[in-house]
Amino acid sequence: MSHDRFEVHLARTGLTIQVDSDESILDALLLAGVQAPYLCMAGSCSTCQVSVLEGIPEHRDSVLTQAERDAQNTMMICCSRSKSSRLVLDL
Ligand code: FES
Repeated sequence: MSHDRFEVHLARTGLTIQVDSDESILDALLLAGVQAPYLCMAGSCSTCQVSVLEGIPEHRDSVLTQAERDAQNTMMICCSRSKSSRLVLDL
């Protein structure tokens, strides 16, 4: 089950941000003034790839291998969401 709305905590910047059902993690970070890198915004370039420190991402990109998906320690924040109510990212 994926959460429509979830919380993202940024371990390095110390910010906690709510991601609504109609926005991406990247959208929420940019709105909050966080300078996250991105390019395609469609899950196909891996520019927005971020390490996941806690929580379970729901992968919606087209670049990670199955092994990388199964490891659940990295994600594309332009399109992927969360299966847990909270993610902690290395940002
Ligand atoms: S910006 Fe290209 S995969 Fe996220």
